[in-house]
Amino acid sequence: MQFPTTRMRRLRKNAKIRDIVRETKLQKEDLIYPIYFKEELKDMEKEEISSLPGEFRYSLDAGVEFAKQLEEKGLKSIIVFGIPKEETKDEIATPDYSATGIVQKAIRKLKKETNLVVISDVCLCQYTSHGHCGMIVENEDTDDGIEILNDESLPIIAKVALSHAQAGADIVAPSDMMDGRVNAIRETLDENGFYNVMIMSYSAKYASAFYEPFRVAACSSPHAGDRKSYQMDPANAVEAIRECELDVIEGCDFLMVKPALPYLDVVRMVRDEFMLPLVAYNVSGEYAMLMAAIEKGFLTERAILESLLSIKRAGADLIITNFAPYILLNELI
Ligand code: PBG
Ligand code: ZN
Repeated sequence: MQFPTTRMRRLRKNAKIRDIVRETKLQKEDLIYPIYFKEELKDMEKEEISSLPGEFRYSLDAGVEFAKQLEEKGLKSIIVFGIPKEETKDEIATPDYSATGIVQKAIRKLKKETNLVVISDVCLCQYTSHGHCGMIVENEDTDDGIEILNDESLPIIAKVALSHAQAGADIVAPSDMMDGRVNAIRETLDENGFYNVMIMSYSAKYASAFYEPFRVAACSSPHAGDRKSYQMDPANAVEAIRECELDVIEGCDFLMVKPALPYLDVVRMVRDEFMLPLVAYNVSGEYAMLMAAIEKGFLTERAILESLLSIKRAGADLIITNFAPYILLNELI
C-alpha cells in the first residue's frame, strides 16, 4: 500500500494520537541522579561546580536534604560520589574504605532518611594521591612510564565495595575498569553475607574526553598519564560485547555503557546481546555542552528530553544523568 492510501501523517494528526502511538517514553523511574558529597563542607554548605552549571558539591546534610527534595518529585535512585579531603589521599586510597568516610556516611544517612535506591560509585581515583583508578608502579614499557596494576588493585576495590555494603548501599557500581573486579567484589560481598547487594558494573567504559567536567568537580584527574590502558578505546564497539560478557560471567546484575550519547550504537548492541538491565551514563560533558548551549540561547531545554529519549530509544533501561534535578524540579516529565 502506498500514497495516497497510506498516509504516515495520520498517526501524527494531534497530541492525543501521538500520545497513544509513542514507542519510547522517558519516565521518572528511569533517572539515576549522580550526587557529589564533599567531606570538607559543613552543615548546609554547598559549592557550585564551575564546569557543571546548576550542579553542586554538597555537605553531608545539604546533599541528603536535596535528595529528599528530589525524592518528593519522583526520583527513585541515586548514585553517590565522594570528594575526600586532599590531605587524606595516599598511594593506596586508604580513605576510600574507611567506615567513617564521606561516602559511607552519605550512604548511611540516605538509607536512614530516604526511600531511595542507593547506589555507590566504587573507584580509587578520587582517593589516590596520583589520581589513577588502581595502584601504580613505574614501568618503562608503558606510554607514560607508569603501569596501573590490575591484580594488586582488586583486593582494595573489593574492600571499598564491602565498606559501602556495610554502610547500607543497595547496589555497588565499580567504575575502575580493572579486569576481574566484578568477580573480586562478588566473592568479597558473598563471604561477608552481602549476597543481596547488587553489582552495577561500568562494563563498557570508554577513555572519553567527556568526563572532564566531572574530574574538575571531583578533583580526580590523574596527575601523570591518562586512563587509556584501562578504559576502552573510543574506536571499539565489538570489544564492548566482550567486556559485558565477562561481567555477566563474573556475576554482575546491571550492565552499563558510558558515555551515552556518543556511544548509542554500543548501547543498542549491548541491548540486543544481553538480557540484563542496561544503564547508560549520560556523563558530565554531555550535560555541560547542552547546558552551555541552553544558557547561550543556542538551544532550548527541549533538547534535554530529546537527547535522554534517544538514549532510551537506543535500548537503555536506566540513565545516570546530571539533568535529573532539572527535569524533576521543573516537572518536565
Ligand atoms: C571515576 C569516575 C569517572 C566518572 C564516573 N566515575 C571519571 C573517570 O573515569 O575519569 C565520570 C562521570 C562523568 O563524567 O559524569 N572512575
Ligand atoms: Zn576511577
